[in-house]
Amino acid sequence: AFCTSAAVKSGPLKDEDRIFTNLYSRHDWSLAGAKKRGDWYKTKEIILKGPEWMVNEMKKSGMRGRGGAGFPTGVKWSFMQKPRDGRPHYLVVNADEGEPGTCKDREIMRGDPHKLVEGCLVAGSAMGACAAYIYIRGEFYNESCIMQRAINEAYKAGLLGKNACGSGYDFDVFMQRGAGAYICGEETALIESLEGKQGKPRLKPPFPADVGLFGCPTTVNNVETIAAAPTIMRRGGDWFASFGRKNNTGTKLFNISGQVNNPCTVEESMSIPLKELIERHCGGVAGGWDALTGVIPGGSSTPILSKESCEVALMEFDSLVEHKSALGTAAVIVVNNKYDVVYAIARLMDFYAHESCGQCTPCREGCSWMKKMVHRFAAGNAKEEEIDMLWELSKQIEGHTICALADGAAWPVQGLIRNFRPTLEKRMQTFKNAASGRS
Ligand code: NAI
Ligand code: SF4
Repeated sequence: AFCTSAAVKSGPLKDEDRIFTNLYSRHDWSLAGAKKRGDWYKTKEIILKGPEWMVNEMKKSGMRGRGGAGFPTGVKWSFMQKPRDGRPHYLVVNADEGEPGTCKDREIMRGDPHKLVEGCLVAGSAMGACAAYIYIRGEFYNESCIMQRAINEAYKAGLLGKNACGSGYDFDVFMQRGAGAYICGEETALIESLEGKQGKPRLKPPFPADVGLFGCPTTVNNVETIAAAPTIMRRGGDWFASFGRKNNTGTKLFNISGQVNNPCTVEESMSIPLKELIERHCGGVAGGWDALTGVIPGGSSTPILSKESCEVALMEFDSLVEHKSALGTAAVIVVNNKYDVVYAIARLMDFYAHESCGQCTPCREGCSWMKKMVHRFAAGNAKEEEIDMLWELSKQIEGHTICALADGAAWPVQGLIRNFRPTLEKRMQTFKNAASGRS
């Protein structure tokens, strides 16, 4: 049976339970403003509690990585505790936010940069890292300036560098701007790019935890994950775990865009029903709920949900998998009946075909092939049997490549066919009738 909302805390998330207090940059983001909003409070004491305590607290919180894959953060940090051979450890923050529909990390870096800087120190000390590299999307020029200024302020105040916060721990934070390739958000491509090479994904294993940046043990974490870490350490893992449902805990940033009355970025409890999220924070679907066609729930790589699923799905990892989609980056894209859903997926295929790095044949050839087919489908210029052919093609791509970009291209196509087959068939029929009428 699908999840119901009964297990979720009801009512909006209270302000005092929000981690991100400056999402729309209405307050001062500088060190003075950040401290007033609770950042950098007793950071030294947190560090002095030691890595064991911090990793356990993160495990207790149930935090699952906020970049899209949802790997348990505490477990990921614990990989860095394995006995090693003296190689330095690194933390890499993935700020290469490129998933279409997604702009949550951008909001953090614009309005709450000190949460990320403090998070680097806290997480870095938990994994015995000597430095953090924040790899930021090239297009985020203003955000990179804000981040650099926040880092400079932290150094000047003795919060970073030698004896960071007076804790006896030495820690540096560096910024690196990307150059606009979506694939550089894939963790191993990001590492290649940081090392000065072309951003092309590596085969895993070895995972970065064993062989990462400069061949050293590395943890790659998303901006939201790291920026939430100091609050989790201050308020406790149990506090964080009290939101959402088992295996899907915490508060979470959601971006809602597309055909809603008020597109926004908001922090809510994990597992909030999708319908409630749209109605509570976005003023509902443009044209009303009846006008809804479907929702892409977690950024462009996640399959579009049918309207029936939108009625009951919860915004969490498990419920969305039950509805044959995924939480991904929690970037909700709403499609109503004023917009052509087939064309929407065709536009996404343009993106994937353009962004494929070309290393794997199923991705390089398959993405272009899917793009051409879905564009023909959008026009109706295809035969009905090609729908099965496209499904088969997407299955041949999925799971047969080095990285998840190709899966991310195949899944939206599968969602379209699974949920909108009658729309596709009707369009092809209309095109055929019109063509035969003309001849
Ligand atoms: P993944 O499942 O391969 O890995 C998740 C993380 O867990 C990685 O850091 C990996 O190193 C680690 N990991 C997994 N198994 C491990 C093991 N046995 N030992 C050590 N570490 C292990 O997923 P991936 O490819 O990193 O991410 C895919 C997701 O990224 C997609 O589902 C998509 O939602 C999201 N995405 C997000 C974007 C954004 O802009 N935030 C852009 C594109 C995709
Ligand atoms: Fe490159 Fe695509 Fe292969 Fe990923 S799946 S390595 S993007 S060709």
